[in-house]
Amino acid sequence: MYVKKKLYLCARFEKRSIMGNILKGKRGIIFGALDERSLAWHVALRCVSEGARIVLTNTESAITLGTIAELSEAHGLPLIACDATKPEEISALFTRAKELLGGQIDFILHAVAQSTNLRRHRSYDDVSYSYFQQTLDVSALSLHKILQTAMKTDAISEGGSVVALSYIASERYFYGYNDMSDAKAMLESIARQMGGLYGRKKGVRVNIVSQSPTPTKAGSSWKELEFFYRYSDHLSPLGNADADDCADTCVALFSDLMRKVTMQTIYCDGGFGRTILTPELMEDYRRIEN
Ligand SMILES: NC(=O)c1ccc[n+]([C@@H]2O[C@H](COP(=O)([O-])OP(=O)(O)OC[C@H]3O[C@@H](n4cnc5c(N)ncnc54)[C@H](O)[C@@H]3O)[C@@H](O)[C@H]2O)c1
Repeated sequence: MYVKKKLYLCARFEKRSIMGNILKGKRGIIFGALDERSLAWHVALRCVSEGARIVLTNTESAITLGTIAELSEAHGLPLIACDATKPEEISALFTRAKELLGGQIDFILHAVAQSTNLRRHRSYDDVSYSYFQQTLDVSALSLHKILQTAMKTDAISEGGSVVALSYIASERYFYGYNDMSDAKAMLESIARQMGGLYGRKKGVRVNIVSQSPTPTKAGSSWKELEFFYRYSDHLSPLGNADADDCADTCVALFSDLMRKVTMQTIYCDGGFGRTILTPELMEDYRRIEN
């Protein structure tokens, strides 16, 4: 099993650039790779294959419990522990990352989320408020803390790019998505607000990628995911976007090709968010009615 995993890691790494090394010379920090299912894991590998030099980061406990250390070791990517809710740890991360990469940071991926209410199957009208506050702190305020710390320490280069991952339940009622809907709404608002400030100050872009449901550790804490994954795939004209689609979208946003795109939510969801009815869905309902 272990050997198989290693081969998988190497196979991914050897995948050649499909975008002409568009991140060549750029330095990045990737928050949130836990294991090989993580969206951040796929983004990290795609950044490397497009020529970037990156630092991986996650919490001490995620580094111990997950397999991020294998990713780091297999590809020689520095791994620095950091709790994204703690500004002093974020500041230390930036200092160390700049030393290791040899200069200011050009791009950052925020792929950080956790809801204990969701994990413990607490319904939205029976949440624990201390868990709720943790959800907001980890999944939304952490983006503010990363950006505020970056501004104060001048960690990001002129024209840099920051991308955070979200889900469309930020703007629509989605049964079962719980307090994470509120966290995602806040996350998207922080991206717009900080994008406005950081853009004027230093040309730094801040965008959101709103991704299809994808089977990952965070994704699986929502008990309806499996059913919803199939429903979403069925409804989306292009089908669900997978982790590699997410990675390609992030890389495009990190690159200079998207230099005038900021404060946006980009939907990497196969068209799901713009679709209400399909012929297949009508057919399904007709069958139920008959
Ligand atoms: N999987 C999906 O269906 C889906 C869909 C849309 C958006 N997203 C978003 O993508 C992002 C990545 O999630 P994922 O699905 O890859 O799951 P994941 O569980 O692999 O990633 C979540 C990460 O957050 C990290 N994290 C939690 N608390 C932290 C803290 N205090 N400091 C630093 N890191 C912390 C975890 O260790 C983990 O690595 C999340 O923001 C998630 O909401 C996921």
